[in-house]
Amino acid sequence: MYMITFSGLTKTFKSTAAVNDFTLEIKDGEIMGLLGPNGAGKTTLILTMATVYQPTRGSVIVDGYDVTTRPTEIRSLIGIAFQDPRFDRLLSVLDVLEWHAKITGVPSGERVQRLESVMRRLGLWEVRRQRTWSLSGGMKKKVEDAKIFIQCPRIAVFDEPTAFLDVPSRLLVWDMIKELQEEGRTVILATNMMDEAERLSERVAIMNLGGLVALGSPSDLKQKVKGSEVLEIKPTDPGHVDLERLKRIHGVSKGVISNDILKLFLSRGRERIPRVIDELRQQGVEIESLFLKEATLEDVFLKYTGSNLS
Ligand SMILES: Nc1ncnc2c1ncn2[C@@H]1O[C@H](COP(=O)(O)OP(=O)(O)O)[C@@H](O)[C@H]1O
Ligand SMILES: [Mg+2]
Repeated sequence: MYMITFSGLTKTFKSTAAVNDFTLEIKDGEIMGLLGPNGAGKTTLILTMATVYQPTRGSVIVDGYDVTTRPTEIRSLIGIAFQDPRFDRLLSVLDVLEWHAKITGVPSGERVQRLESVMRRLGLWEVRRQRTWSLSGGMKKKVEDAKIFIQCPRIAVFDEPTAFLDVPSRLLVWDMIKELQEEGRTVILATNMMDEAERLSERVAIMNLGGLVALGSPSDLKQKVKGSEVLEIKPTDPGHVDLERLKRIHGVSKGVISNDILKLFLSRGRERIPRVIDELRQQGVEIESLFLKEATLEDVFLKYTGSNLS
């Protein structure tokens, strides 16, 4: 049974298609990573699912309810940690979280204990009386994430949950997200951080320009990179590299230049290196460094979208 079904979903703002003919089914109880660069459409997709925006075309069905006709039922199932938390500046951390627990129906008998345990874990207990306007970006993000850990919704959505967090806090939030899933919740995790998507998600949907460009488990996606090796070359003059000619070399399936680094996707890379060096020499391109490695999820992303995450 699918918990969420996007079918040909399109959401346009004036002339921009922020989400464009997007189709995806999310299983009950899985962590689905939505990975894409800034502007890929992740936040718009999430906000349309959460009934904040109306679809321009296509549909989203959440637990059998259609977003356009049954928004109230859907809202009661979802909790979202927003990308840009906005709190009433006069409220304290405790006010914000108490209020959230109350309006999302956390039973009153459990409220005090749940609030305290989540706040203590995230290091928010000491600052609970502090007004939200005085918090750092990372602290604000933790308050936003804490809402969802306290709420424990059927569907937990995190939009870049660890942006601005230091490393220990990031690891902690990852653990807490994993625990939500272990308790049977469905989790959607939008991120532009490869390690975050790879570490938490059972499946990753790679988004680019509003569309779905690849879908699978992190290891499936890596296997989809034909050859599964990447030869990274730093040429002294990237502008002179003739990619088309390099791609004609036997075993090379794709070539991309990104941030002045030439990346060739190839099979049996070690055997191809001399041929690649020869070809570059013929093109008059000098090599500063050369490095052969296994394809990472980041390379998969680059292969499908032609651009880096950022
Ligand atoms: N409320 C809005 N009004 C106009 N354009 C928007 C709005 N929200 C998003 N967009 C545009 O839609 C595209 C996708 O944005 P967004 O969904 O925020 O992507 P992501 O979350 O992947 O960074 C961008 O080009 C962005 O400028
Ligand atoms: Mg976003």
